[in-house]
Amino acid sequence: MPENLLKGKLGIITGALDENSIAWKTALKAKEQGARFVLTNAPIAMRMGAINDLAKECDTIVIPADATSLEDIEKLYSEAKEYLGGDFDFILHSIGMSPNIRKGRSYGDLNYDWAMKSYDVSAISFHKMMQVAEKMDVMKEWGSIVGLSYIAAQRVFPFYTDMADAKSLLESIARGYGYRFGKLKNVRVNTISQSPTKTTAGTGIGGFDSFYNFADALSPLGNASAESCADYIVTMFSDLTRMVTMQNLFHDGGYSFTGISEEIMDKFKDL
Ligand code: NAI
Repeated sequence: MPENLLKGKLGIITGALDENSIAWKTALKAKEQGARFVLTNAPIAMRMGAINDLAKECDTIVIPADATSLEDIEKLYSEAKEYLGGDFDFILHSIGMSPNIRKGRSYGDLNYDWAMKSYDVSAISFHKMMQVAEKMDVMKEWGSIVGLSYIAAQRVFPFYTDMADAKSLLESIARGYGYRFGKLKNVRVNTISQSPTKTTAGTGIGGFDSFYNFADALSPLGNASAESCADYIVTMFSDLTRMVTMQNLFHDGGYSFTGISEEIMDKFKDL
């Protein structure tokens, strides 16, 4: 394994809820590769308590922040900067939530207040985190910002309902802000489109087991795990990917470009 890919780098990691979270695995890998960072999550997630164990393991602190609140983000950045002793080289946005999915509403029966909440939490918060970072000028030159997406942004997955629209918006924001931050400070902005992954956000989606198994059978490499996603995020934070920006990067074992696999064909034989 390469060593010290993130040596001397400072950053912010959002979204570590429990040990299954993509952000949790990323924190452990980032620490292993020499980064120093602050952990953050919504105040409500803090009540679960697990994030404090992760903070101990990563030798850092947790600063609660609702990613939809500009004031919370400002407070997060100023406290993190003080704690870390410098501006940030990386930010991970690993945040997603849809009240419509939680409450089982179909795409033709969305509650629009909840849909707005889905877009705000899962997509616009990405813009807010970057806009505040720009205004407070807390990103270092050649820094890297990553958000997490899903292929429902491009193709229809009926059970993904308003989260599909949120992910399209998230990916669009990565392009829009990637251009802006690139011009301003050579900061790159990308989304990583991850395989279905067994986390709290993932398994909350109706029919998760079926599409997890389907994706696994379709992808030549099988589904990408949360741990391998964390490896990819670390490379995106490292200096090895300095010219990659405004991209939606598929991290899905080949799923997005596979039409059909032998395993799936076998299931449809002699129907
Ligand atoms: P997770 O449930 O462990 O993480 C989601 C996080 O979002 C939680 O830590 C939660 O507390 C946080 N969050 C929710 N509302 C928030 C708010 N207002 N402010 C700050 N944080 C808030 O699940 P996972 O899977 O690790 O999710 C991380 C990202 O990966 C999400 O964007 C998700 O949509 C994306 N993703 C997940 C896939 C999966 O199958 N699990 C597949 C592709 C993308």
